[in-house]
Amino acid sequence: MTNQRETPGMVKALTAEERQSIEIFYSAWKEKNPSLLDEVCTPDWQDIPLGKDQVDGPQGLKDIISHFTTILPDIEIIIHEIFGTHERAGVRAAISFTHQHEVLGIPATGKKVTIALHEFHYLKEGKLTHTWHLEDWFSLLMQSSPKTAVITGISSGIGLALAQKLLNENYHVIGTSRSGKMEGFHHPNLHVIPLEATDKDSIQQAISQIPKLTRGIDLLINNAGTAPDVFDINPEINAFNQTLATNVTGVVFFTEPLLPYLKEGAQVVFISSNMGLPRNADSNGPGYRMSKAAVNMYASILAKRVAERGIRVTPMHPGWVQTKLGGSQAPYTPEQAADALYHGITTNVESGKFWNTTINAIEEF
Ligand SMILES: NC(=O)c1ccc[n+]([C@@H]2O[C@H](COP(=O)([O-])OP(=O)(O)OC[C@H]3O[C@@H](n4cnc5c(N)ncnc54)[C@H](OP(=O)(O)O)[C@@H]3O)[C@@H](O)[C@H]2O)c1
Repeated sequence: MTNQRETPGMVKALTAEERQSIEIFYSAWKEKNPSLLDEVCTPDWQDIPLGKDQVDGPQGLKDIISHFTTILPDIEIIIHEIFGTHERAGVRAAISFTHQHEVLGIPATGKKVTIALHEFHYLKEGKLTHTWHLEDWFSLLMQSSPKTAVITGISSGIGLALAQKLLNENYHVIGTSRSGKMEGFHHPNLHVIPLEATDKDSIQQAISQIPKLTRGIDLLINNAGTAPDVFDINPEINAFNQTLATNVTGVVFFTEPLLPYLKEGAQVVFISSNMGLPRNADSNGPGYRMSKAAVNMYASILAKRVAERGIRVTPMHPGWVQTKLGGSQAPYTPEQAADALYHGITTNVESGKFWNTTINAIEEF
């Protein structure tokens, strides 16, 4: 007995023809071919509820498809699941597009967005007669609202370039500098707060300001760092203490009190260095290498602690970069480093792993 046969008391499944009609119905978007609706909808097909100014029947949706495929050329509907019984179908799907044009009064962000779509269809003789639709347009608002990034050490170098990059990417940036100011660089979405990473009172002051500036952190970048012994062979106590206080103690005790303010699914990034990988051990920069090795270990520990909140933690090597710390001989500009770091941030790197931007890949510790 097949489930297509009508047996009293048995429910008949959706037919292959009905499924195919539903698939064609949605493919009209990707194909930019609204007339496909004429093949799979009855002439009196009802779209429920009708949109503002939408005419009855397939023509109303054909007009909508023509409009949206023109202003959002990569729009498509991705079917997750079609289920139901003969003449009754439910569909779980998503509308996907690059938000490059105003939609429902929400200004373009240039971001790729995904809107959940849930629909129910009635069918007769293999054609759609009624469709009840529900799109999660609120999530477009959520996906369009700026994310918040906290970045330490934005007064120069990689931190400054990262702040500029994230502002261009529509982030609201809370940056720290030791002076609490940014000479010559202002942006309406940038807040600068003072932070001296070696001073616990300064850390406490900075932390107390952050919840007043945001309702949650999407991205925390621990960038501030120092390398006074990078050309030295023998550890020197003042340089050593300064390095560990800034690059390790300051990083750990700035990050810990911010953990409750990280949103579910947030990211924590440590601007680390491949000089801190044990297999790259060399004689110069003892304090600097040890400090970055410690940060890599902290990242691995933290990754485990915050995993259940969906928070990813990534130590990243930015390459050798032309900054006060890196010197002028370095091959990469801070802007190139910021672009590469941003690429790493937006790549779904496995949490707790070390990401080397110069090879665009994970490196084992
Ligand atoms: N450049 C490279 O080749 C390279 C390579 C690998 C990793 N990194 C890492 O990249 C990060 C950024 O360095 P960069 O190359 O951009 O150097 P940079 O231009 O010297 O910037 C360092 C930043 O850290 C801040 N900072 C230093 N000590 C601090 C402290 N005690 N408290 C608060 N902020 C402090 C600085 O603030 P002030 O302006 O107030 O000093 C500055 O904003 C560092 O963690 C570094 O280890 C750099």
